[in-house]
Amino acid sequence: MKKNNRNKYPLQLNHGKKDVLIFKNLNQMADYGVTIWKDIAWKAIEEQGRFVVALSGGKTPVELYNRLALEKDFPWDKTYVFMVDERFVPYESDDNNYQMINRILLRHVQIPAKNIHPILTLESSSSGSALRYEEDLVSFFKNIDDKYPQFDLILLGIGDDGHTASIFPGSDELSLKETRHLTAAITPSDESKKERITLTFPVLNNAKNIVFLAAGENKAEIVKEIMGSKKSLLPAAMVKPKKGKMLFLLDKSAGSLL
Ligand code: 6PG
Repeated sequence: MKKNNRNKYPLQLNHGKKDVLIFKNLNQMADYGVTIWKDIAWKAIEEQGRFVVALSGGKTPVELYNRLALEKDFPWDKTYVFMVDERFVPYESDDNNYQMINRILLRHVQIPAKNIHPILTLESSSSGSALRYEEDLVSFFKNIDDKYPQFDLILLGIGDDGHTASIFPGSDELSLKETRHLTAAITPSDESKKERITLTFPVLNNAKNIVFLAAGENKAEIVKEIMGSKKSLLPAAMVKPKKGKMLFLLDKSAGSLL
């Protein structure tokens, strides 16, 4: 990135056909995230009477969720919230993504309970939870023309190993070859990470809009790799919407090597 435009944020880049916005800080990124959320939502509600979104866990989207919780006039009654992924832990666990999103956002807005679709972790196995979630997706999107559910917006994070959703590097069962299942149960090779349930690439890549959020120095190297190589096998680099739009929102630390 040209050095001379570094103090004018947000900086707009097109890196290897990927649209990137770099923000001064997480707050500016979150403010912009609310704007995009509302633009996509109102368009979806105008066109189809509802806005269907899938949310990721992790730390980066927390500021955005905090701001969305203040949007009391937003049409939450026409908004349907799904999870991108979930750790196979009880709701009460601090590792549970749905618990975090409910605590920070959902319980503060007037969204009907029936509009919220968590990945339940009550089954005896993560594969059982993945199957239940797939059944929920099929039932909700039942009249979809397309073979796969189509979300209006999917918010994704980027792990410092290049994972996104709960698709980790080397997750063979989740290569782009996976075309049948909408969800999968994952046992990360990294022992410290919990068993997980995740949406698969066919669902991610069928979205109308994908927005990646990444912040912090620790993401700079992986973001550079994701942006720099068209053939990267990093999961976050393998997200390529078939017809939809994709945008990367980075803070200046995560975008510092672009
Ligand atoms: C999860 C997320 C995961 C996350 C990345 C980035 O369940 O942890 O869905 O994919 O988006 O790990 O996490 P941070 O935002 O905390 O860096």
